[in-house]
Amino acid sequence: MEEIKLISLSSSKELTEKIRRQLGSKARILDTTVHHFADGEILVELNESVRNSNVYIIQSTSNPVNENLMEVLICVDALKRSSAKEITLITPYFGYARQDRRAKPRQPISSKLVADLLQCAGVDRVVTVDIHANQITGFFNIPVDNMSGLPILANYFKALNIPDLTVVSPDHGGAVRARKLANALDAPLAVIDKRRPKPNVAEVTGILGDVEGRNCIMVDDMIDTGGTIAAGAKALKEKGAKDIYIACTHAVFSGPACERLQNSVAEKVVVTDTIELPEAKKFEKLEIVSMDELLAATIESIEFGMPVTDVFTKFDFKE
Ligand code: R5P
Repeated sequence: MEEIKLISLSSSKELTEKIRRQLGSKARILDTTVHHFADGEILVELNESVRNSNVYIIQSTSNPVNENLMEVLICVDALKRSSAKEITLITPYFGYARQDRRAKPRQPISSKLVADLLQCAGVDRVVTVDIHANQITGFFNIPVDNMSGLPILANYFKALNIPDLTVVSPDHGGAVRARKLANALDAPLAVIDKRRPKPNVAEVTGILGDVEGRNCIMVDDMIDTGGTIAAGAKALKEKGAKDIYIACTHAVFSGPACERLQNSVAEKVVVTDTIELPEAKKFEKLEIVSMDELLAATIESIEFGMPVTDVFTKFDFKE
């Protein structure tokens, strides 16, 4: 049997190693070297043959977004020129996903640009997790599997067995996502009515649904500066919610996020490891659950030609 060949670039090293462990003797991380030169240029060297092989690059395009993206593009170019058969990019966090439309005149659609760059370099298939807007998958003319962190978050909360539970979306845009988690936890849904008077400022104007006397899990795809989620948690408390838990797939955690979350009224902040956090960004209320098993199962499905939707069944989760 052919081994599954993984490539670990700079941003997802721990997750790649965990995925390899999940895949056991079926997989190996290829010997590659990533150089960052003094002038800012990057070189990715493949230290072994990839001729006629399927290769899986694992790299989130998180901060530093442009460096991590460039590493991917250069690695793909090296693979292409070395006659790899099929190149799959596993990008647990897809950077630039929030620039998916022209919200104002003369704005770019940067996620489309990123899709074009990846395809032009030679990526044959993309796997990502909870991409900010599902329609971004349509920016590609190659297969894109948008997996989800919700099964992992749902299992974490199932184990806590929280009574009188309501799942809350911190804004209208996240209602479908929150509904999926609510279904998995057999809980009702509430939605926060949020406004953004200016970028990175979140204002709560109301709450749709019943949260008084309820324990609440507020779920989002990502926490960036923490403004949305901290304002939401405060509004829930003011409406009489009991314990509040915060959950998200992507811990972007920029600027004041960690401080805001630690000082928020929430009991716990549960995130996945699609973005690797340095020790300095870990705080007492933070819990990290791993995407390793789900992504390993996804890679196996692709490698052996099985439906990736079966991965969700394995995790007892309805998409
Ligand atoms: C917005 O649509 C996203 O789903 C997140 O709610 C948002 O990006 C979080 O940003 P911040 O943490 O800075 O409020």
